[in-house]
Amino acid sequence: MAGIYLHIPFCKQKCRYCDFVSFAGKEDVAEAYMACLLKEIELRGKELSGRTFHTVYFGGGTPSVVDSKYIYAAMRQIKKCFTLAPHPEITIEMNPGTVSEQKIALYKRAGINRFSVGLQSAIDAQLADLGRVHTVRDYLYCTSLLKGENFSADVMIGIKGQTREDLQKTIEVAAGSGAKHISMYALQAEDGTPIYTDYLNGELPDEDEVAELYDYGCALLAQKGYARYEVSNFCKKGFESRHNLNYWKRGEYVGLGVSASSFFSGHRLLNTTDLDEYMKCILSGFFPVIDNAEVGDKEARFEFVMLGLRTVYGVRGSEYRAQFGSDWKEDFAPAYRRTRQYLLEKGDVTRIRDEYLFVQNRILSEYAGD
Ligand SMILES: C[S@@+](CC[C@H](N)C(=O)[O-])C[C@H]1O[C@@H](n2cnc3c(N)ncnc32)[C@H](O)[C@@H]1O
Ligand code: SF4
Repeated sequence: MAGIYLHIPFCKQKCRYCDFVSFAGKEDVAEAYMACLLKEIELRGKELSGRTFHTVYFGGGTPSVVDSKYIYAAMRQIKKCFTLAPHPEITIEMNPGTVSEQKIALYKRAGINRFSVGLQSAIDAQLADLGRVHTVRDYLYCTSLLKGENFSADVMIGIKGQTREDLQKTIEVAAGSGAKHISMYALQAEDGTPIYTDYLNGELPDEDEVAELYDYGCALLAQKGYARYEVSNFCKKGFESRHNLNYWKRGEYVGLGVSASSFFSGHRLLNTTDLDEYMKCILSGFFPVIDNAEVGDKEARFEFVMLGLRTVYGVRGSEYRAQFGSDWKEDFAPAYRRTRQYLLEKGDVTRIRDEYLFVQNRILSEYAGD
């Protein structure tokens, strides 16, 4: 499996919590940026011409904010410059405040067959407080345009003043709209974002409150038929995100666009996060890469275990042995001993017990030092 990620760094408005490489009020450079993206697709396509890719993902930022003709052109370029497997999964992220019937029609003509919609909350006052540009009604309109399609909804826990009832309403709206997949993210208050002030003022729910909301949300999602397959990801049977599964399986992926990262031929690459620098590099015929590091053997082993433990599929001992020629429990013996009580073992497979999945970072940090 291999995937292609394209970063579209534009938003109508910057949400108060968002730390992603995304810019509001830069629509004037969208055309030039998208032209550079076509060039980067061509350059990377040549380099990776022997490979077959199974998924394409337009992420951001807000891919749905730019004119849909650019997304169509990017998809046409992908098909021209890369080899796609039959029936690829092609996803686009959308903010409900930026969609139209015409846009969605053109996405479908471009071959996009999966949509990821940012709902966050079904309480309008909370959406406004987060700095979102849309209302719950906009979400319902957006998903009415996606009837019968494979789409996912993003919801958030840990919002200021969020109660169980609020979360219940949010999950009911997401499920009721027909989402086949729901991502439930805990709000991260990153230093430098406006919401960090709310955090410093003690206005956001604390860790225990968020953990309680998470458990409540998980139970509700299970009741509605969404199975958890990763700490923040839930879906109806057979609707896992293939693109994300590939990341967690340490599959190869190529990232295109400002700030995008890649993993192929045993190297991890990172593109510049500076929009102007990105465009200058591409226009001069260079890759906009600011970091290119070979993943060493020790690091690869750690990544395999860490990524495996993040999901409900866990670490398969035989797969580890086939790749690295040793037993993962021996390679990570001290960490394995220290965390064993949190793990569930079934034959060849070891996974984090359900009740500890939400605090996995503390468990995984034990492996980082080994
Ligand atoms: C690129 S956005 C999705 C598309 C579109 N930009 C939008 O927001 O609707 C990806 C998702 O990341 C999540 N996200 C972004 N910043 C976050 C943060 N600081 N804490 C938790 N989740 C965050 C949001 O749930 C958001 O829907
Ligand atoms: S719309 Fe999405 S990417 Fe843009 S600022 Fe908000 S959360 Fe970030």
